[in-house]
Amino acid sequence: MSDKRELPIGIFDSGMGGLTVLKAIASLLPAENLLYLGDTARLPYGTKGRDTIVRYTLLAAGKLVEIGVKMLVVACNTATSAALPVLQKEFAPIPVLGVIGPGARAACQASKNGHIAVIATQATVQGGAYQHAIDAINPGAKVTARACTLLVSLAEEGWTEGPIARAVLARYLDDIFHDPDAPDTLLLGCTHFPLFLNSLREVVGEETRIVDSASATAEDVAKRLDELGILRAGGETGKRDFLTTDNPERFTRVGGHFLGVAMNRNQARLVDL
Ligand code: DGL
Repeated sequence: MSDKRELPIGIFDSGMGGLTVLKAIASLLPAENLLYLGDTARLPYGTKGRDTIVRYTLLAAGKLVEIGVKMLVVACNTATSAALPVLQKEFAPIPVLGVIGPGARAACQASKNGHIAVIATQATVQGGAYQHAIDAINPGAKVTARACTLLVSLAEEGWTEGPIARAVLARYLDDIFHDPDAPDTLLLGCTHFPLFLNSLREVVGEETRIVDSASATAEDVAKRLDELGILRAGGETGKRDFLTTDNPERFTRVGGHFLGVAMNRNQARLVDL
């Protein structure tokens, strides 16, 4: 029987944004083998209907399971919001973790006044998953959620700083944060939004806490692998493999922004679902 600890953790996202989650997992668990799949052929998920998102997510996750993974991490907020329970049922006993629970936990820990702003895609906001997850942790919390659709394209274009990014952020957020009852915490409920950190600071002010789900998700991954006795031990760094459903050249070029290091074209392999 093969050693389960050697199998990779499968990390899935609609595109390259989930590389921010891969980065957090790689930094906390360097010995783990990681297999990333970005469904760039169907990106964006965030403007699509729930049934379509569930269908695409099942296909992508099924591909990772077919290749062989010991755990599935849904790094995409939109896919987590629409499909997490479906995936958990479909692929049991493989553990399937999402990013919404960890993100909600991080926001509840950060907020002192109990008012949390969540920015995400249209599908994530409409599905209400962050609102429910925060309510389950802190039933007294007030949640102001806003869809910030344009930010996904801006991040992929690399326009995350400067006057255009600031103007778009201000258009989405000014009314929420220039209010006497403003939130004290901003939760970045989309894989692309951590790239706007510097611009967000200028728009929401120094005193607002800005949190995202990447490091909290990595902590959940470590805890679950440990509980299941399938952590990969050892000093040497694990393998990192990248699959994309369209245009590996663009995946690696744009992916470098999210990973924080340039990627080489040959690092990504094209797959069909
Ligand atoms: N990965 C998606 C998310 O985190 C953003 C991109 C998309 O809309 O597919 O919600």
